[in-house]
Amino acid sequence: MGEVRTAILPVAGLGTRFLPASKATPKVLLPILDRPLLQYAVDEVLAAGIESVVIVTGRNQGSIADYFDMGFELETKLYDRGREDLVASLRDLRPGAGRIAYVRQIEPLGLGHAVWCARELIGDSPFAVLLPDEFLVADRPPLADMIAAHERIGGNIVLVDEVDPSETDRYGIITPTGEDQGAIGVASVVEKPPPAEAASNLAVIGRYVLEPSVMDHLGSVAAGAGGEIQLTDGIKASMADTPLHAVRSTADRFDCGSKAGFLEATVHMAMADPALRSTMYDLAAAITADGPPSEGTTP
Ligand code: G1P
Repeated sequence: MGEVRTAILPVAGLGTRFLPASKATPKVLLPILDRPLLQYAVDEVLAAGIESVVIVTGRNQGSIADYFDMGFELETKLYDRGREDLVASLRDLRPGAGRIAYVRQIEPLGLGHAVWCARELIGDSPFAVLLPDEFLVADRPPLADMIAAHERIGGNIVLVDEVDPSETDRYGIITPTGEDQGAIGVASVVEKPPPAEAASNLAVIGRYVLEPSVMDHLGSVAAGAGGEIQLTDGIKASMADTPLHAVRSTADRFDCGSKAGFLEATVHMAMADPALRSTMYDLAAAITADGPPSEGTTP
């Protein structure tokens, strides 16, 4: 069994829920406080001991590669002003030289297709996939637990969390079997089942450790939910020869694909920041003084 050395970050989505902000800035570069969403995902990858990243981009996302470049003029100016500390902190955010690659998903055919576009850079090794929209806050990255589970039992591993049973049609949903040493056996996984048909409320939450054979299946699966090539369907097709297990997340999870989730993530991170905590309490007091929102005012 090989080591997980590369993580794929598919980011080609249009970000329609964040227009107009996402018109000129890719949604994954929108910040939670002062750090872009994509940076948190890269931090998580590096913290889990994975050194290489493949970012699958779409049209008009050239600024993502710029973001991970050295900002030559900026860094020179900071250096001249004696801010070596800032230069060093910017450098620490980047994966090492040659450890970040970009693949363009030329047509938006779905998440499974985006992952498949990175196949030539993955070769014969197991790999991770992270969806930066799923913002996870934890002392130890769940990805590290998934890699440990993969070392122990092999096969494909997904991270799951309980979701409201009315929301199963937004996620890949597993059919769990037994749970053993922190890994749940999975009998099946279905993309976006309606609540009445969902086998459980255990949803796949955007972290995967996968065997390279999944790529072969992604190359041949038919379009599924939403008319798109789904990663879930590639993993499901792999189950004929590769067992699937799920690791239960213990992280705080925020759905940064929605405005409400993005706001909650921002509030959570601000509360955890000693420099912003008192501002948060002042804001909370002001909001409480205004009283509860009246009917129909929810944005
Ligand atoms: C994708 C996956 C889905 C997963 C979800 C997590 O869906 O296809 O299986 O549960 O991410 O956020 P999307 O949100 O891209 O529709």
